[in-house]
Amino acid sequence: RLLIIDFGSQVTQLIARRLRELNVYCEIHPYQNVTDAFLDDFAPKAVIFSGGPDSVTREGSPRPPQSVYARGIPILGICYGQQVMMQDLGGKVEAGEHATAEFGRAFVKRAGEASDFLTGWFGDTGREQVWMSHGDHVSEIAPGFAVLGVSPGAPFAMTADLERRFYAVQFHPEVHHTPNGAKLYENFVRLAGFKGDWTMKAYREEAIRAIREQVGDAKVICGLSGGVDSSVAAVLIHEAIGDQLTCVFVDHGLLRQNEAEQVVTMFRDHYNIPLIHADESERFLTALEGVTDPEVKRKTIGKLFIDVFQHYADGIEGAEFLAQGTLYPDVIESVSFSGGPSVTIKSHHNVGGLPEKMGLKLVEPLRELFKDEVRALGRELGLPESFIGRHPFPGPGLAIRCPGEITRDKLAILRKADAVFIDQIRKHGLYDEIWQAFVAILPVKTVGVMGDGRTYDYACALRAVTSVDGMTADYYPFSHDFLGETATRIINEVKGINRVTYDITSKPPGTIEWE
Ligand code: XMP
Repeated sequence: RLLIIDFGSQVTQLIARRLRELNVYCEIHPYQNVTDAFLDDFAPKAVIFSGGPDSVTREGSPRPPQSVYARGIPILGICYGQQVMMQDLGGKVEAGEHATAEFGRAFVKRAGEASDFLTGWFGDTGREQVWMSHGDHVSEIAPGFAVLGVSPGAPFAMTADLERRFYAVQFHPEVHHTPNGAKLYENFVRLAGFKGDWTMKAYREEAIRAIREQVGDAKVICGLSGGVDSSVAAVLIHEAIGDQLTCVFVDHGLLRQNEAEQVVTMFRDHYNIPLIHADESERFLTALEGVTDPEVKRKTIGKLFIDVFQHYADGIEGAEFLAQGTLYPDVIESVSFSGGPSVTIKSHHNVGGLPEKMGLKLVEPLRELFKDEVRALGRELGLPESFIGRHPFPGPGLAIRCPGEITRDKLAILRKADAVFIDQIRKHGLYDEIWQAFVAILPVKTVGVMGDGRTYDYACALRAVTSVDGMTADYYPFSHDFLGETATRIINEVKGINRVTYDITSKPPGTIEWE
């Protein structure tokens, strides 16, 4: 396996992505944790130093343990990682001045000899577009290194000690704006002897072994939300330890049409997983009566969820572990981006505080995976495609799609309208092109006319967006025919709605959900 030492770059995760795409197993660890003993234990076959915000010219700036250079394994240094490598090995780095700082697109030109590291790079033109983002720069390369490429702002844009298999680049090969960057990773892992044989089948077997080892014959509780992550985690854990696992599905009464039945049928009947269906909708809806402020809604649901979950978990005798579908991006974010002052836009509903409160240890079998890898693992485990490809659904459920007061009446109308909208999207073959689609019921009634009579019913908004990660989004460009047909269907089939609008706000400035 390959070790990425994280010096705090914003794009360290992308390095891992590029390597996973090459079927190479890698892990990111923050530099603080990488000690000599850690290296002995991890036994990496190759190491990558990420970029980072610090300056190697500063006393006490982040470094790897110096023994890393003596292990006879290939090392690739990127940006800050390049500067670390140069300084550690006897070169010189100068602190940034405006004249030498480089940000954004640049072109690197071939310089010096060809090498295996450069196969497929520097095509016919002898130059490649790269993405630079650095203040400091290397002013003298370390002994044993040769220059492989230069850019106008970086005479040492690419250098290598070919004999020791140390490679150092000033730019970021992992980002989209270095279009051919994957080639360098491919060459690097090949040089390091990786075969690219890391697959989901291998991951599944390894994960099952690890779960058995961690849990022994103790009992595990898993909170099921009906989403992909917790579902895949549950099925995987069940495969590892069978009935030592009990799932708790808290039904807060804010789910979509037929959703609770689907979850119960799939897990209890299809997978034979012991499942407690905690139908607590009355409690949640009562607690939400009269609540209109979005943050109060979120906090009310979040708090009650924890209480309810804990209540059911307490009833499971001898449970020692809590399973969570934590993903790799959640794990890394807490390493690289900790401490930054950021504004809370929405209080996200999750079960983060649960384990400490309940005195349970955590099982997180998806900690190493990205979202699309979780989907691949779900397929490997035989979860139906219709389930794996489902749009994300927020923890607070329909509550945040019902601006203003939440009433049982409005929820019932919302469920029906939402089901028609999704049915339309599926019928037109658009479901997989859309990141998320739903209906929000608006807190306004408007006047209409139907069959010669006056109506005074709710207005609703359709929302459908494209996105890669939910962080930014654009509205989906439905055809007018589609929108017209959908509006007609909703008004005809859903009693209580007499007006349909389409939300064409992107994110930013909007958010995906309405609250
Ligand atoms: P926003 O509305 O912030 O949503 O643009 C971004 C993505 O996050 C989902 N979302 C949530 N997911 N708990 C969740 O598990 C929450 O409290 C929550 N709020 C929003 C939203 O559906 C979208 O996919």
